[in-house]
Amino acid sequence: MDRITAMSSKNIAIDIRPANSADEAAIVALDTEITGTEKAAYWADILERYAGPDHRNDRYFLVACAANDELIGFIAGEVRAWEFGSPPCGWVLAMGVSPQQRERGVGALLLDSLCAQLKNAGVTTIRTMVLRNDKVNLSFFRGEGLAAGPYIELEKHLD
Ligand SMILES: CC(C)(COP(=O)(O)OP(=O)(O)OC[C@H]1O[C@@H](n2cnc3c(N)ncnc32)[C@H](O)[C@@H]1OP(=O)(O)O)[C@@H](O)C(=O)NCCC(=O)NCCS
Repeated sequence: MDRITAMSSKNIAIDIRPANSADEAAIVALDTEITGTEKAAYWADILERYAGPDHRNDRYFLVACAANDELIGFIAGEVRAWEFGSPPCGWVLAMGVSPQQRERGVGALLLDSLCAQLKNAGVTTIRTMVLRNDKVNLSFFRGEGLAAGPYIELEKHLD
């Protein structure tokens, strides 16, 4: 995908483009601000695998930039296939919008742009996983049309 300029729901011009290695520091800083945990090695690995020169063409890492080119949001996703019989579907792996830029339509633009890429790749469904008590993320995804799906998450602590 090329860089596009889109108007958010609040009429703000936002650039959406594929991420590149030069975005690493800004993505790490934004994620640290959102989650309180710095994960530099994790994001270096995700950037390499989702936006690096040899990344699979069904993996996507997009960033949103304000008029001054400041990175204000990101989203990463991919096509996953045949996990426990599930036909290929799009997964939203991670996303974040700067706390200073929220509720201005940036998250919706990022999700729309990722969905367009996933649709081009041939999938007709998207999925993601959020904490059940995370009201902001739940409200966002619910507002964007996602609802409970047919799978449930199972887990076990390994001693
Ligand atoms: C979820 C998130 C991406 C939304 O980004 P955003 O730019 O504020 O979202 P938008 O402005 O595009 O909102 C779209 C819709 O989502 C819903 N929504 C967004 N924020 C909301 C909130 N705080 N409360 C209730 N609904 C909300 C609304 O339905 C909104 O539509 P509206 O503008 O017509 O009311 C952002 O809050 C965020 O980054 N949260 C943290 C994400 C996270 O935990 N990341 C971990 C690292 S991967």
